[in-house]
Amino acid sequence: MTKKRILSGMQPTNQLHLGNYLGALRNWVKLQEEDYECLFCAVDLHAITNGHNPAVLAKATREIAAAYVAAGINPDKCTIFAQSAVPAHTELMWLFTSMTPLGWLNRMTQFKEKAGKKRDNASLGLYSYPVLMAADILVYNASHVPVGEDQKQHLELAREIAGTFNHRYAKDEDFFTLPEPMIMGEATRVMSLRDGTSKMSKSAVSDMTRINLTDDADLIAQKFKKAKTDALPVPASKEECEDRAEAKNLITIYAALADKSFDEVAAEFGGKGFGDFKKALTDLAVEKLTPITSRMNELMSDEAEIDRILYKGAERANELAIPVVKKTKELMGFWA
Ligand code: AMP
Ligand code: TRP
Repeated sequence: MTKKRILSGMQPTNQLHLGNYLGALRNWVKLQEEDYECLFCAVDLHAITNGHNPAVLAKATREIAAAYVAAGINPDKCTIFAQSAVPAHTELMWLFTSMTPLGWLNRMTQFKEKAGKKRDNASLGLYSYPVLMAADILVYNASHVPVGEDQKQHLELAREIAGTFNHRYAKDEDFFTLPEPMIMGEATRVMSLRDGTSKMSKSAVSDMTRINLTDDADLIAQKFKKAKTDALPVPASKEECEDRAEAKNLITIYAALADKSFDEVAAEFGGKGFGDFKKALTDLAVEKLTPITSRMNELMSDEAEIDRILYKGAERANELAIPVVKKTKELMGFWA
């Protein structure tokens, strides 16, 4: 039996925020202690699909690696690498494009959100993004993929592609493992601090909508202070959160940071004013995030060390991925 394998990734576009941390990164740190081989990449090829700045791409990639390590991913135990350093991802993606009907891609909500109203102007890269993501995962035969809730649909697509390949070219044997999404913890979908109906995102125009992993204590305090709430006291239960998306979001964030359940936190603060709750939330967020921020800054001042980690990671990732693409091409009947 091969060891269970985890693959996940984040885009090096702008800075990581609290949603990335609570929805994904924090869970990875816990999972590396379990019985998995773990691979975590900076998905730089995905980061170019919606326009990017060449002058900062490499730095942003290093920053992602630094954030992983600063948050507690152990580079001696896990493989940390840049997606673009493993050409097998893109090669496998091309092979997959021919077994991905447009109808599947047309359903993808992330594309619709990112492309917006001017869909004809969106790039082919943005449209085919989920096929590359499927290749990222399947090229390692990852059994588990820890992500935030927004990625569930992309995981389903990866499973459909794996199933199609197995059926068409592998006599229904499970050549490609069907990956399981792992959506963990209280904060699987952290919402914007200014609008509880849209998710906290790197690409939102206003920085006040999110807490970045690089924000200092003053900025965190300022952002929570200005976070949207309502005139009622803090809700004491989930039932009291109806039509109160912003209040619900702040309690969820607190619960995730404190490693408590939503109900526990609602019981603790329910009925109190938001002023007091926001102060407690700020203290907690500062306590949990500032050690990560300072470690990240420290790491970023030693570029050679990050490059060493990425280089070693790419070596291991290539070692795993190259034979899988070779075998895939063989099954598809390519000349070799
Ligand atoms: P991205 O920022 O799109 O590269 O996302 C990297 C990881 O963070 C993925 O696993 C996402 O599902 C997760 N993530 C992104 N935004 C949020 C959010 N607002 N709440 C929870 N998880 C998130
Ligand atoms: N699509 C993911 C996101 O936007 C990032 C990603 C790319 C990813 N490839 C992946 C996540 C493979 C998990 C596994 O968040």
